[in-house]
Amino acid sequence: MLDFTIDLARRAGILLLSMLEGQRAVELKSPFELVTDADHASEELIVSAILQQFPDHAIIAEEGGGSGRESAYTWLIDPLDGTNNYAHGFPVFSVSLALLKDRIPLLGVIYDPSRDELFSAERSQGARCNGRRIRVSETPTLTAALIATGLPYDYATNPDNNAREFIALAGRVQGIRRAGSAALDLAYVAMGRFDAHWELRLKPWDSAAGALLVSEAGGRLSDWRGGPWNPWNDRLLASNGHIHDEMVHALKLHEE
Ligand code: IPD
Ligand code: CA
Ligand code: CA
Repeated sequence: MLDFTIDLARRAGILLLSMLEGQRAVELKSPFELVTDADHASEELIVSAILQQFPDHAIIAEEGGGSGRESAYTWLIDPLDGTNNYAHGFPVFSVSLALLKDRIPLLGVIYDPSRDELFSAERSQGARCNGRRIRVSETPTLTAALIATGLPYDYATNPDNNAREFIALAGRVQGIRRAGSAALDLAYVAMGRFDAHWELRLKPWDSAAGALLVSEAGGRLSDWRGGPWNPWNDRLLASNGHIHDEMVHALKLHEE
């Protein structure tokens, strides 16, 4: 199953890269949320391959191409994470695929075609980048940390928009990056490039694969208060473990 998923993520990523240069058809899903013909093409490729290989599995795919079937096995598919970047030609985007059994993530694969980096994790088998084992960073404190986040699409209209948390944390760390692909941010926490990632209102297809990568790479996951997290929870905090409590403390101080 892992080999199948890796191959699929690569094929979808290569398709995205090949479509990047041409003229993109871009539509608005909501006032600030874009979708392109490449999102749809990638999703079609992924969903049809899964349907062919595992016709009984349930599929939840961002652009609606899922199966609607009930099954113990569920695929969570983000065919293009970082659509806004993609539509502007900014080469930070990924394909994110997760397979869950009874809502527990079994495997997660994230592919970044621009850098040809394939991140994969299997439950209890560790995390890898291009086949090599990866681990979270050893950064011991928030003041020494490089952390990542995202700002929601409804930033302008919803006051619960991560702005205060962003400002509060910006003064306490070495740097914050907002690169625009939550899946890649999480893969980078697993790889030790980022020391933490926090975000709100992510969808299960944004976070499930990346979260498994982080936990299999020795990191820690929780909600913003330090409580249990699952891909349906809307406030994710992922870290190298060492700075987790400091992050929770900082986020708590700025709760409404
Ligand atoms: C988005 C990206 C972004 C995050 C948004 C997501 P999309 O996914 O992951 O980094 O901040 O919340 O919706 O729409 O590009 O698939
Ligand atoms: Ca996404
Ligand atoms: Ca997407």
